[in-house]
Amino acid sequence: LLSVSFSFSQSTAKLYINASDPRVTISRHIYGHFSEHLGRCIYDGFWVGENSSIPNKGRIRLDIVEALKKIKIPNLRWPGGCFADEYHWRDGIGPRKQRPTMINTNWGNVTEDNSFGTHEFLELCDMLGCEPYITGNVGSGTVSEMNNWVEYLNFDGQSPLTTLRKENGRNKPWNVSFWGVGNESWGCGGNMTPEYYVNEYKRYATFAKNYPNARLKKIACGASDGDYNWTDVLMKNVGTRMWGLSLHYYTVPKSWSDKGSATSFDEKEYFTTMKKCLFMDELVTRHGTIMDKYDPDKRVAMVVDEWGIWTNVEPGSNPAFLYQQNSLRDALVAGTTLNIFNNHADRVRMANLAQTVNVLQSLVLTQGNKMLLTPTYHVFDLYKVHQDAKLLPLQLNVPDYQYGDQKMPAVNASASVDSTGAIHISLVNLDAAHTIPVTTTISGSNWHTVEGQVLTAAKFTDINTFDQPGNIRPVPFSHARKEGDQLVANLPPLSVVVLTLK
Ligand code: AHR
Repeated sequence: LLSVSFSFSQSTAKLYINASDPRVTISRHIYGHFSEHLGRCIYDGFWVGENSSIPNKGRIRLDIVEALKKIKIPNLRWPGGCFADEYHWRDGIGPRKQRPTMINTNWGNVTEDNSFGTHEFLELCDMLGCEPYITGNVGSGTVSEMNNWVEYLNFDGQSPLTTLRKENGRNKPWNVSFWGVGNESWGCGGNMTPEYYVNEYKRYATFAKNYPNARLKKIACGASDGDYNWTDVLMKNVGTRMWGLSLHYYTVPKSWSDKGSATSFDEKEYFTTMKKCLFMDELVTRHGTIMDKYDPDKRVAMVVDEWGIWTNVEPGSNPAFLYQQNSLRDALVAGTTLNIFNNHADRVRMANLAQTVNVLQSLVLTQGNKMLLTPTYHVFDLYKVHQDAKLLPLQLNVPDYQYGDQKMPAVNASASVDSTGAIHISLVNLDAAHTIPVTTTISGSNWHTVEGQVLTAAKFTDINTFDQPGNIRPVPFSHARKEGDQLVANLPPLSVVVLTLK
């Protein structure tokens, strides 16, 4: 049992952390990101115009690269999303002027000029120092197209495709390992039944070859939300012949037809959003239980390769571009969701927030040569200490956050110990009005000092803007201290606090 949470009508929280026998590693890949050919994520995001005055290297925007390196981005998913199942990789290689164009039918019917393709994406990953996670086209592609792409990427020997790769400027293979076999095959990826997709997965996966030093970690398309039958059919019929099984879940504040504003909402809507965000715990638990039935040793990873808050677009922006602002509420969604993933690290070994730049719950927003880091970015910065650290099991007794006749646990948390022996505790106080004192008992650790940082603001609607990009950013946290053997911390309302104990 990795984490237990109880909530009570009391005003203080109690946290028990067991540091005596940590076993499970929190994979750094839980902290992964997603870049789709959608709106302004790639074009006018990562990728600037040919003669742009924005500092870039080979058209890749350097301020974004620096920002993502700082948070130790572990992997980047590409080229979609729905776009992946209409992407034909050969259109995106070779001299740029000769690349054919296509229509991006999923995202506004805009013309895709294919100037950002395989080489450009892998150059970006190289600059970021992160692993690529490529999703192949099952919906409108062919088995041989996928087979050829893997050969082009990963084969070190002599073949027509590796000769082509060399002509295009790359001698050595990239050895890509994370490999998605289609995306949302139950929807935009082909509207398949799980039984049909199982056969497609097997056929495509068979011909996506492992080359020397380049074993693929194949990730099958998994369920959306609470479609437990999809998980059951996949686990029963594919089982451990996949490295990972995906799950997609978005926190939609209101409804799919009117998702709600990113910046203008009241406490009722804030409360509902956080309840929906906490639903991720139930999803991961229940999909995990089904996976356990077929794979009790937990060999197959749960890969939550699309998650985040999805609101209405910013007024005046193209509705198909999914550009939304990012408030303190987004930071609380990120902190809470990452705590859930950490606490399920025995099964959740990869995740990708949608989407890195200018789309949905972004880390970075751009406007011309200006760039801002969102509150969500700062959560990933604070939580990077958990990457590849050992999870510490915990128990939480916390007060309720009450709104009207509804309630939810006001505080959530996760804890880890890193390779130097430092303990990191990330705490989120969702309550909109109350400071919550948390008393923590840690068994199996002889710690002496505590330091921390806090991310908060006066209102859940507060944002960073291009004129005031530093409104919400982490600052030192001075409300944590050692009292006897216990750690006492006062969490401000609407805050994410990360403490380090040495
Ligand atoms: O992230 C936006 C879209 O949401 C993705 O393209 C798709 O996979 C999902 O439905």
